[in-house]
Amino acid sequence: MKLFRPLILFVAGLLVLHTAVAQKRTPVRPGAVRGVEYAIDSILAGLTLQEKIGQLVQYSGGWSTGPTGEQIINQEQRSLIRSGGTGSLLNVTGAAATRELQRIAVEESRARIPLIFGLDVIHGFKTTFPIPLAEAASWDPAAVELSARISATEAASAGIHWTFAPMVDIARDPRWGRIAEGSGEDTYLGSVMAAARVRGCQGTRLDDPMSLVACVKHYAAYGAAEGGRDYNTVDMSEQTLRDVYLPPFKAALDAGAGTFMASFNEINGVASSGSRFLMTKVLREEWKFDGFVVSDWGSIGELIPHGFAADPGQAAERAINAGVDMDMEARAYRDSLASLVKQKRVSVATIDESVRRVLRIKFRLGLFSDPYRGTSVERENRMLRHPSHIAAARTIARSSIVLLKNENSLLPLSLKAGAIAVIGPLAQNKRDPVGTWPGPTDTNNVVTVLEGIQEAAAGSLIMYARGCGIDDADTTGFATAVNVARKADVVVMVMGESNEMSGEACCRSFIGLPGNQLDLVKAVQATGTPIVLVLMNGRPLAISWEAANLPAIVESWHLGHETGHAIADVLFGTYAPTGRLPVTFPRVTGQVPLYYNHKNTGRPFNDTSHYTSRYLDIPSTPLYPFGYGLTYTTFGYSDLVIDAATLHPADSLRVRVTVRNTGTRDGDEVVQVYVRDDVGTLTRPVRELKAFKRVHLAAGASATVALAIPVSDLAYTGADMKRRVEPGTFTVFVGSNAAADLAAHCEVVAK
Ligand code: BGC
Repeated sequence: MKLFRPLILFVAGLLVLHTAVAQKRTPVRPGAVRGVEYAIDSILAGLTLQEKIGQLVQYSGGWSTGPTGEQIINQEQRSLIRSGGTGSLLNVTGAAATRELQRIAVEESRARIPLIFGLDVIHGFKTTFPIPLAEAASWDPAAVELSARISATEAASAGIHWTFAPMVDIARDPRWGRIAEGSGEDTYLGSVMAAARVRGCQGTRLDDPMSLVACVKHYAAYGAAEGGRDYNTVDMSEQTLRDVYLPPFKAALDAGAGTFMASFNEINGVASSGSRFLMTKVLREEWKFDGFVVSDWGSIGELIPHGFAADPGQAAERAINAGVDMDMEARAYRDSLASLVKQKRVSVATIDESVRRVLRIKFRLGLFSDPYRGTSVERENRMLRHPSHIAAARTIARSSIVLLKNENSLLPLSLKAGAIAVIGPLAQNKRDPVGTWPGPTDTNNVVTVLEGIQEAAAGSLIMYARGCGIDDADTTGFATAVNVARKADVVVMVMGESNEMSGEACCRSFIGLPGNQLDLVKAVQATGTPIVLVLMNGRPLAISWEAANLPAIVESWHLGHETGHAIADVLFGTYAPTGRLPVTFPRVTGQVPLYYNHKNTGRPFNDTSHYTSRYLDIPSTPLYPFGYGLTYTTFGYSDLVIDAATLHPADSLRVRVTVRNTGTRDGDEVVQVYVRDDVGTLTRPVRELKAFKRVHLAAGASATVALAIPVSDLAYTGADMKRRVEPGTFTVFVGSNAAADLAAHCEVVAK
């Protein structure tokens, strides 16, 4: 019985989490809404202008910690809060520190308004989950929601109220390092994941002390930086903005997201943090958002180098009048708003409206009822790295892995594989698997690939050699690596990027394996021992040589604490891979940006004809398409049927297809439906993902899989900036990735 207790507790923990995730959001009663607005009226009536401005100013609490890791609160911070000079702090964590600062706010400041504590809880707090790009590769919104839920639970226990997540930027250029923080290149998948993350983070109620309020970022089009270089200029049509980049923000909002973050970039000549079009016209007037917008770190001040403001005063004026409510760390609101009001460049009504939005979220979080949200050091200790969280981190990590190649079924490896050589700079590495933005994680908790393999294949002879560094020219380790490879029956090479090669300001102009890693792979390959290449990275890599010359490739991204367990589960077949690429893998860096839902051009590429849209030196297809991923069995598709081939705008496009497990093992398939609008008033992409469904099929079994797409989802933005479905024919493609060619046709007719 003793043995079973931890298991029961863990299952019970998961059930509680799952139940919380599955429940519907509690609708807000109109009476309660009015009550909050009256309460805000009366708070506003009692505030001085300086106190109002204080609510719109956010400071970083800094990272100074004491000998036992406790956060140090300095005198300056105490007096700032006491004077009402700030409404929010970021980067302060821990029940003890947040309680003390909150106490000063509610007991020692005149207005007694609670602080809201923010933090980047991106893919875990003390339990580290896979990076968001990896989680998106699970194509499993329930898993992604659970990860966000657990992260929120841990962070909330440590006094956090607000996370700067989800990051929902569509990224079509893998040179851009922040591709790691989002859900990849696709608008539909990105929207599904954005909503899942908001549901997980905010739970069923914002005033649940286990929930955080989400901050959808970076609004907007930050992922479209020219050349894939961070912070760079964005210039795009309003149609592309509305059809490709904005929908995940709208999906997050529809899921209840309480706050937005303005982005660093400019769009079409207007810096986002001063864009009235984005912050007011689209967000408030069209989408009816009633929460608040925070700037990105210092982004209001950056209106000056953008050439969009002459000085901090003008920057503050443009930002607040555009609809950016809170200034993160630029000090522009603190230093300029009062005089801008005096000069009538900013109205008191504008300030009041921004304060109202901030207070509204504080009310929704329950901070006016319990400013501490029930935190205690005891609860914090109990919640952080709870065994159920670690178990879920393993489950989610393994579902994020994508099997790219598996010649002659080299995988799964037999547990009696004989001698296994584990080689590479990421094989016995605890630092990098946590990925970018790991938050206040402890990398000692990372299970390395070597450790995972040793645990899983205890009966095998396991040899290890680092071989080379991640990004240097040192070849002194090559000989040992080649030597252990020679003695082994199979080699597992763990290669890729450090956690500092993706994320903010971490862009790369060449996206192959860095340093001399490919040279090491070639040297080991020359031994003739079969190689399983396990990749760890925060972006798609250009791996043409590896794909052509190695028998097996496993894309594991940066998987977090449970890296080694998850990878061993896949390598030895305890778990058959279920991940699918959320982003296209190019053949070479020079091919990017390369994404599946491009336009056709007047001369679509054609390998046999010269005057077509292509490069002379490489095939125009990707190395691995969007949606691609193998498993330990195979699937066949047939009998694609559209229930009614003539559709009206209010109908749904209903698709049925037979999927058969044609292999010898049970497995999961992700059935994907892509639609092409054949002819438009404006040109349309060659195809767009509109639906997907996961099916589990026993070996040899088949099933009819039905998917429905509301015809309204086939709409796009016309030249008049209105979204509508245009009557005409559509081609529907169904299959296991964006290159699917099983097709059927339908027609949408006007009402
Ligand atoms: C990043 C944001 C982040 C903020 C606060 C900025 O540099 O762009 O994504 O939320 O810092 O840490």
